[in-house]
Amino acid sequence: MSSLVRFGVSLEKGLLEKFDRLIKERNYTNRSEAFRDLIRQEFVKKEWREGEDVAGAITLIYDHHRKDLLSKITDIQHNFQNIIISTQHIHLDHDNCLELIAVRGNPIEVQKLADTLRSIKGVKHGTLSMSSTGKEIS
Ligand code: NI
Repeated sequence: MSSLVRFGVSLEKGLLEKFDRLIKERNYTNRSEAFRDLIRQEFVKKEWREGEDVAGAITLIYDHHRKDLLSKITDIQHNFQNIIISTQHIHLDHDNCLELIAVRGNPIEVQKLADTLRSIKGVKHGTLSMSSTGKEIS
């Protein structure tokens, strides 16, 4: 771990009060940790923008009774196996399935996979959690 450096930040009073309310809502124990997370979030965005290797998760909710969907979702995943780390299928209830796909690799490919899966007719909801490999944000 790199050594800690302290530095002063000047902020408008109103903005700082808002920031303090926000970090309290989000259960941060102090401003420093909240500030660190904000900075890291910007670096993660930069990784996605600039084509660095990224990591993340795709979630899909879809109708269990549509057997064609499972087959389509599987076919697409076979075409993106270079960026898929693992896939988990969860039977949410009698009618709904949840597919969790962990991904790592080129952000354009990851986005393309997420968009392709989400746009399948019958997929009720899809998300892409855009995270980091963690290497560049320590
Ligand atoms: Ni299922």
